Amino acid sequence: MARILLTGGAGYIGSHTCVALHEAGHEAVILDDFSNADESVVERIGRIIGAPPPVVNGSILDGEAVRRAFAEHAIDGVIHFAAFKAVGESVANPLAYFENNIAGSIALARAMREAQVWPLVFSSTATVYGEPDAFPIPETAPTGYTSPYAFTKITVEQILAQAAAADPFVIGALRYFNPVGAHESALIGEDPRGIPDNLMPYMAKVAMGELEQLSVFGDDYDTPDGTGLRDYIHVMDLAEAHVLSMNALLEGRAHTLNIGTGIPTSVLQMHEAYSRAVGRELPMRVVPRRPGDVPRLDADPARALEVLGFEAKRDLDAMCRDSWRWVRAQAAGWRLNDPS
Ligand code: WQD
Repeated sequence: MARILLTGGAGYIGSHTCVALHEAGHEAVILDDFSNADESVVERIGRIIGAPPPVVNGSILDGEAVRRAFAEHAIDGVIHFAAFKAVGESVANPLAYFENNIAGSIALARAMREAQVWPLVFSSTATVYGEPDAFPIPETAPTGYTSPYAFTKITVEQILAQAAAADPFVIGALRYFNPVGAHESALIGEDPRGIPDNLMPYMAKVAMGELEQLSVFGDDYDTPDGTGLRDYIHVMDLAEAHVLSMNALLEGRAHTLNIGTGIPTSVLQMHEAYSRAVGRELPMRVVPRRPGDVPRLDADPARALEVLGFEAKRDLDAMCRDSWRWVRAQAAGWRLNDPS
């Protein structure tokens, strides 16, 4: 059993990783300032795993809170989720992204060094590949950035690699593709503030009647049906990949890995799958492309299988079914004090 600190652990991927850690016999401790998560998620995680995980309420930029997390809990490793992650917002407000995502990661690494805790799983992203020209994408593909958000992620990957050359950090950088879906209990799931940018939560609100129709951002890409291709992965598969990553780090095995299914899915295919889960055709229209979108992003998942023994198990229908069950459960009462 290991006790793992999850920064941003009350968030979408963090909350699901609390469950996956418990299922693997580990314990989670959450560090979160709840700037992008509803406090009720902690009690709902507790209903899934038996008892709510301990929480340290604070930002990774709050040195006292981070030190308290290490002082009050015998931490064996850290999974670092806490970050701003909206591409468009990062273009409008890059300095806030540099401070929170880069300075925050440095502050966390310094607190780990002070506490002599070395295993660190870092939440990275496939957008570090920019607009690749070969598919599926291996970890050896050229990296770069097409937004301040992606700049912060590739920069933190490189900062942590340098820190590991000077101190015994053991780093696992996981490059997520497109996380979607929810835990089968429908007690936790994606809970975006306001109108969602991302495809699946947007379709979920259309299905709930909260939004009028899906706007398909362009059908003139050089893809089989003209719409964008992405590698959607069930959030519980992604959570389980974090547990395997931490287990490898606890054995001293560092890595940088794509976490995806290796299956490219188009917007129209996703629209069809979600309509199937809901039981009726969701209204949609085609509109011009969204600036900054790339035609295709899908992972070569071979290294994650080789290094961690990881491969995604849940298919597109499970992703849509679990998302649809979650949004109905949420509407039935998870937002006890709705801030928006
Ligand atoms: C998926 C596809 C859109 C909404 C982003 C971030 C990435 C990561 C995941 C943080 C694309 C199309 C979408 C809509 C649409 N976030 N779409 N109508 O852009 O692949 O990745 O979220 O780590 O960093 O860039 O995800 O869900 O926004 O878009 O047609 O209303 O759906 O064009 O082809 P994306 P997405």
